[in-house]
Amino acid sequence: MKKYVEMNKQELEEEIASLRAVYKKYQGMGLNLNMARGKPCREQLDLSMGLMDALNSDADLSCADGTDCRNYGVLTGIDEAKELIGAMMENKPENIIIYGNSSLNVMYDTVSRAYTHGIMGNTPWCKLDKVKFLCPVPGYDRHFAITEYFGIEMINVRMTSDGPDMDEVERLVSSDEAIKGIWCVPKYSNPQGYSYSDETVKRFARLKPAAKDFRIFWDNAYGIHHLYDNDQDYLIEILAECKKAGNPDMVYKFASTSKITFPGSGIAALATSLNNLDDITAQLTNQTIGHDKVNQLRHVRFFGDIDGMKEHMRKHADIIRPKFEAVIEILERDLAPVGIGSWTKPKGGYFISFDAPNGCAKDIVDRAKKAGVTMTGAGATFPYKKDPDDSNIRIAPTFPSLADLRTAMDIFTVCVRISAAKKLLETVTE
Ligand SMILES: Cc1ncc(COP(=O)(O)O)c(C=O)c1O
Repeated sequence: MKKYVEMNKQELEEEIASLRAVYKKYQGMGLNLNMARGKPCREQLDLSMGLMDALNSDADLSCADGTDCRNYGVLTGIDEAKELIGAMMENKPENIIIYGNSSLNVMYDTVSRAYTHGIMGNTPWCKLDKVKFLCPVPGYDRHFAITEYFGIEMINVRMTSDGPDMDEVERLVSSDEAIKGIWCVPKYSNPQGYSYSDETVKRFARLKPAAKDFRIFWDNAYGIHHLYDNDQDYLIEILAECKKAGNPDMVYKFASTSKITFPGSGIAALATSLNNLDDITAQLTNQTIGHDKVNQLRHVRFFGDIDGMKEHMRKHADIIRPKFEAVIEILERDLAPVGIGSWTKPKGGYFISFDAPNGCAKDIVDRAKKAGVTMTGAGATFPYKKDPDDSNIRIAPTFPSLADLRTAMDIFTVCVRISAAKKLLETVTE
């Protein structure tokens, strides 16, 4: 098969005509497939049904220290949960607050608190003329939605396979006091599945921010979400690294069990320095008497310890690994020979990032939609939903069945090829 860039006008036209026939066939099938959001599939959710048996009406709902989980209290979470989630986040229990069911909610609260009340005695962001955040792109749409909601100006920073472009991060953070934060998904990033290199983490820890209240929003959502047993990414622990570098208060670290047990019914946590924890609990005490301790206890009883959690994650991997591999196989089968697009090959996390030829992403997503395949909206991986190259598309392989996923990917690559060939046709003269 010839590469598209080597094709002349007639060859491209013939290619488009034959792809259109295939596309029409798919359109006639009345499909309704979805590769849009990073949701676990049913079989993955079934893995955690034991949570429902971990506690029943005969259970003793007391913690080791005697706390009755059925009653009010324990603002920052039960010790057992701090122990378990601490092991998952690689932080000491004393550095952890266990929250409710969603880490995104904790991130929102953290921005909101900084906005209305300020961080550790600094001016609340709402009283400043300008507040800015750095946004490694492509990134997670819901992070960008939070900062957009608070009117925070978002600045794109290029992602590399080692993490954000640190020259740019250092330059911006040290020169502009209005920059108060950066969104990071440091391990198996959303959407690329990249993990930050040792060098990147160390440079983060050694940042010299112009703003005293600059914080790294370190969303380690996929810390233990490996696809392979023997080939896993490793991430340096940021809190310890910041402490070593003399910046102990510079990071807020977030995680949850959303993609471990039940999204929306798991437990979320924040790990940070004791200074930050004091600052946060002073606010939290006005917000709640305590989060859902029964659910915390349920998770502890279900997993036992971090080894139980890791074993559980292997079962998730067994279900979703074939899906990731099918996506990569189909992209390589259909697009590599014609030299179109590029994509990541993650070893964990929930997504694959696909880059189409510039100016094609919207067209591809629209085309896929018309053939019954829903993708994450083109542009969603950028602040303000504006992909300057109209190139990036996030692929979420976990939710559909393997058979549906394969069909969806067959259609997706046809859409990519039509769109890319049409784009090239605009520039070819003969
Ligand atoms: C990077 C990242 N952070 C957070 C979340 C959501 O986490 P939670 O369910 O704990 O709010 C997701 C979900 O897709 C995610 O990809």
